[in-house]
Amino acid sequence: MALDPKDFIITRKRKKYKFALFFNSSLCFEIEEWPRNKRFDVLELGAGTGLFGVALASQNIKKQYVAADVKADRLQTGARAAEEKGLTNIQFLRARADQLDDVILPSSLSSVWVTFPDPFPKKRATKHRLTHSQFLKLYQKWLQPNGVIYFKTDAKELFAWSLEELVKAGWRIEELSFDLHESDLPSSCKIKTTYETRYTKEERPINFVKASPPVCI
Ligand SMILES: C[S@@+](CC[C@H](N)C(=O)[O-])C[C@H]1O[C@@H](n2cnc3c(N)ncnc32)[C@H](O)[C@@H]1O
Repeated sequence: MALDPKDFIITRKRKKYKFALFFNSSLCFEIEEWPRNKRFDVLELGAGTGLFGVALASQNIKKQYVAADVKADRLQTGARAAEEKGLTNIQFLRARADQLDDVILPSSLSSVWVTFPDPFPKKRATKHRLTHSQFLKLYQKWLQPNGVIYFKTDAKELFAWSLEELVKAGWRIEELSFDLHESDLPSSCKIKTTYETRYTKEERPINFVKASPPVCI
């Protein structure tokens, strides 16, 4: 039975209201609902509102996009924007990054975007960083042979650490910038996420890397 978001407005429970919107949207899925052999092309991980994915999907309607995040109340923002635009090539998946291996087919993705992930600054929490070598192994498994990851962050230390993780694991750096929006990189790399819009207003430089997986011989 569908939930009525208006019931939640009356109780002023804003978060529950947003969960109801997620629950009722035909573009939103819990990981258990996601069909196991469903193919798509581009994943945004830790997508937050998913508005960045919506911008990508509206620019390239031939590709299928998935915006994944653990927070349903954030993802529903993107789902509503996609519905308003009539997009049918993006879906919103509530899942933790480590759960996605159950639903992503090996060698199926053309790109993975990791955008402004939580930095987990404490040393003992490095395993949660979405650029940790364990996650890089997953991305390598999911990407087509000519696939790439894109990683953006304002967090300098996380970026330096992530570059080391990439190089140690044999990834090839294709593009690199420590100030994306002042760089000559193509405008396709400069579409802003929700956090990025906030950070660029504060004049914080955005770090960016595009990398391709190690070649297995
Ligand atoms: C700082 S926000 C950035 C959101 C968005 N990428 C942006 O740039 O606006 C980080 C997001 O990553 C999500 N996140 C953190 N750890 C995650 C994980 N292991 N799997 C999926 N999402 C995760 C959080 O819920 C949060 O929405």
